[in-house]
Amino acid sequence: RPLKYLVMSGSGRSGSVNRQLADRAARAVADRGGIVDAALITDFAVPVYDGDLEGGEGVPEGAEEFRRRLEFNDALILASPEYNASVPGSVKNLVDWTSRIHPQPFHEKQVLVMSASPSMAGGNRGLWALRIPLEHLGARVYPDMFSLAQAHAAFSSEGDLVDDPLRKRLVDNVAAFMDLVEAATHYPRIRHA
Ligand code: FNR
Repeated sequence: RPLKYLVMSGSGRSGSVNRQLADRAARAVADRGGIVDAALITDFAVPVYDGDLEGGEGVPEGAEEFRRRLEFNDALILASPEYNASVPGSVKNLVDWTSRIHPQPFHEKQVLVMSASPSMAGGNRGLWALRIPLEHLGARVYPDMFSLAQAHAAFSSEGDLVDDPLRKRLVDNVAAFMDLVEAATHYPRIRHA
């Protein structure tokens, strides 16, 4: 069966460069035969985590919906901004809420992280911060991360990456990740005692 990919932008704002990057990655997934479930972080609205809220009304619907979408799809591709050299609080807050659901849905999930920024570093420091909670939760975060520098000038009006080698690198990165997701999904599991 074709595998399903939740392709999400960690920024929901109109004109978001991470949204543009997520859209281009989604196209690469579809071109290779994957099924895309596109999302924005703003689709999963949650309040700031508070243990009293959790003890009262429980985990908010936004986190429950994110869990459903993670479980429905075989893998996650997440393009996230970098805020102050780290992961945006909104992204971490959604991960925190969702981690309170048991069994928590990040366990053994295949994840590809990406970033886009107008800066020269492309938001790469934010991805190293994003890996920490995801890996802590047992997600299989793909080693090769895609960071798009000078992202404000990187896309054509049709939403494609203007630079040929850069576009090839993105498409190859997505393809290599999809090969791994195929292998991880279809091969017999190695069981540890
Ligand atoms: C930023 N930005 C930013 N960029 C960067 O490369 N490194 C950084 O540390 C930060 N820090 C930062 C903090 C805060 C609070 C904001 C709002 C922004 C700039 C950021 O990359 C830029 O606004 C992007 O356009 C945000 O991503 P989207 O919304 O375009 O996807």
